[in-house]
Amino acid sequence: MEVIVAEHAGFCFGVTKAVETVYDQIDSKKANIYTFGPIIHNEIVVGDLESKGVKVIESVDDLKGVTEGTVVIRSHGVTKEVHKALEETGLEIIDATCPFVKRIHRIVEEESKKGKSIIVVGSKTHPEVEGIVSYASGPVYVVESPEMADKFQGDKTKDYTVVSQTTFNKNKFQETIELIENYGYNINIVNTICNATDERQSEAEEIASRADVMIVIGGAHSSNSRKLYEICAARCDRTYFIQTLDDLKLEIPEGARLVGITAGASTPKNIIEEVQKHVRTNF
Ligand code: F3S
Repeated sequence: MEVIVAEHAGFCFGVTKAVETVYDQIDSKKANIYTFGPIIHNEIVVGDLESKGVKVIESVDDLKGVTEGTVVIRSHGVTKEVHKALEETGLEIIDATCPFVKRIHRIVEEESKKGKSIIVVGSKTHPEVEGIVSYASGPVYVVESPEMADKFQGDKTKDYTVVSQTTFNKNKFQETIELIENYGYNINIVNTICNATDERQSEAEEIASRADVMIVIGGAHSSNSRKLYEICAARCDRTYFIQTLDDLKLEIPEGARLVGITAGASTPKNIIEEVQKHVRTNF
């Protein structure tokens, strides 16, 4: 039986940078290190950081009374208002927002200033989307799915610029914008799905379509991991979604020839290694 681990499994560039940034602060022995929200959707990494003294804050209010410290902004970014409020605390702010997310902030800010209405294709309550939306100074809409695009009602005399959440499913993005376009809206599309996601999803789809069993490793709250699971489960009936090796209750059907393994952007390499080793040695 063959075991394939996707080349594009695990930490993407933006997450690697954000996590390293926090470890760098620990190494430089700084007092009071905070991350604005968990640095990644992985309880193990967040737990390790906590054991080293890093505190997760959920709002700027959590910093009341703190006079010294460093706050790291995670790769999803924050809203323009939160960024400003953080700066005003007088603490050291290290912005580890992924450059690909920053690019979307810039596009939305500039297009909005030009008078364009903005459509963000993504999950409304995701912090990345909340951040993106905050950079619009005029009308801005969030379209979460092709179903929502089908019911979208905007002003057809206006020009729209469409961007997407970096981790949005590329097929669903395509479907969503086609629907909006077909309803006669004048849209300028900027595909801002990150390559890391695109490559990870395409490769997972390809492996899952050949595999007898597929294992997706990722945090339960990680939207890109859940999307990866959806893609694989649509191609391979026996798709498992796990956070660590402990969750894996693997059953391999008789005659299985290929087991595929992939992982979301917030999964550390050592967890992927462990799962791979387990499958190779026990089956
Ligand atoms: Fe950045 Fe793409 Fe990762 S946007 S955080 S490199 S998934």
